[in-house]
Amino acid sequence: MGRLLIVNGSPRAPRSNSRRYIEYLLQNWKGAADQYAAVSGGPVSFELYTDLLLVFPLYVDGVPAVLLPFLKTLAAWDGTPRPRVHVLVNCGFLEPEQNQVAVKMVRFFCKRYGFPWGMTLRIGSGEAILDTPFAWFAHRGIRRLAAGMQSGRSEVVSVRMPLSKALFVRASTRYWSGYGAKNHMTAEQMRTMEIEGRDFQT
Ligand SMILES: Cc1cc2nc3c(=O)[nH]c(=O)nc-3n(C[C@H](O)[C@H](O)[C@H](O)COP(=O)(O)O)c2cc1C
Repeated sequence: MGRLLIVNGSPRAPRSNSRRYIEYLLQNWKGAADQYAAVSGGPVSFELYTDLLLVFPLYVDGVPAVLLPFLKTLAAWDGTPRPRVHVLVNCGFLEPEQNQVAVKMVRFFCKRYGFPWGMTLRIGSGEAILDTPFAWFAHRGIRRLAAGMQSGRSEVVSVRMPLSKALFVRASTRYWSGYGAKNHMTAEQMRTMEIEGRDFQT
């Protein structure tokens, strides 16, 4: 493998879970790698890279809008050889399968614009997993992702916390209610569509 570009597609890149996943990947990466935050934008020299890793959160079952300008620029680039594209998607819900539609979107993009497809890592419970004793599941998935990228494989790796749905919902409800309370919000207020005085239901 030549050189890798890691793209952080989270709108909150500097404080994101995506950043934490990238940091762990870099600890297990043997080659040259650069990083790019989609939210900050800026030019990219695609010709430098043999591989692109898109790391992003699942947003409304899809790709965050902040990643779209990067993809548009990539679509307009007609250089060869085309870098191989890999994805690491993390979502808030428990099931890694939730990420599948977003993976398909990127895969369709790659097919349309002639980019070879590489590894996929789908992380369920991705908002929480790194701060639990189950972080090693995510770490193991990332090591598999890195090994697959390094040896040119194209596989799907999935990880999640090994909890039942009922337990996960109970634990996450407790977490988000506590988070709301710290910000002087009740659980009832958080269930409405009102944000900063505006009702987004209408
Ligand atoms: C606007 C928005 C939409 C989201 N949509 C989904 C979703 O459809 N499914 C899901 O499981 N998680 C969803 N999430 C949760 C994020 O994927 C999750 O919190 C993730 O860990 C954020 O990663 P980041 O810190 O790298 O941005 C959403 C979060 C936000 C803020």
